[in-house]
Amino acid sequence: MRARVAVLVGGKGRGSNMANLVRAGREGLMPAEVVLVLSPAEGTPAVDAAFELGVPVRILPKEDVSTFILENLYKFEVEWLCLAGYLQLLPPEVVHALSGRLLNIHPALLPKFGGKGMYGVHVHKAVLAAGETESGCTVHLVTEVYDEGEVVLQKRCPVLAADTPETLAARVLALEHEAYPEALALLVERAARVP
Ligand code: GRF
Repeated sequence: MRARVAVLVGGKGRGSNMANLVRAGREGLMPAEVVLVLSPAEGTPAVDAAFELGVPVRILPKEDVSTFILENLYKFEVEWLCLAGYLQLLPPEVVHALSGRLLNIHPALLPKFGGKGMYGVHVHKAVLAAGETESGCTVHLVTEVYDEGEVVLQKRCPVLAADTPETLAARVLALEHEAYPEALALLVERAARVP
């Protein structure tokens, strides 16, 4: 039985992790399939990409986000929610309802370079400013606190002397596309073993 997954993208979402998870499911690289995309905004590259991939999209309302999310997860029979670029904290009702089945991906090696304001290019700028020789990405379970929760999987890459935030971001993004399907597969398989 393949796990049914929704992906919640960001408001300015590029959607590359979402599209990658859709492909990974369709190509059988993980025992899961993306059946729903949630987005806080219409007309973003992520929403366009979801339409092109033929995945149903629902746009979050401005109010009562938790009822909307939980109703749609129920309607689409979704048990797992993957955040991919979504920057807000989710309401506690959603976090609790999905406990252990709510994931996020972060473009650094948590617990370093996480927390509020640490997103996108800000993360890579901070990594370079700190003189790190290594960076990477982290897939973790989501709690009510930014970038906390059990680390499911990390992948590492070198930081090169000539790196700019953009070159480092590209290297980390390639790792993200390996890490997210692998992490989801690990968790789905782990859940299947628990009676
Ligand atoms: C990724 O770098 C991810 O780590 C972070 O937001 C970005 C989303 O990129 N949480 P994309 O929209 O999936 O391309």
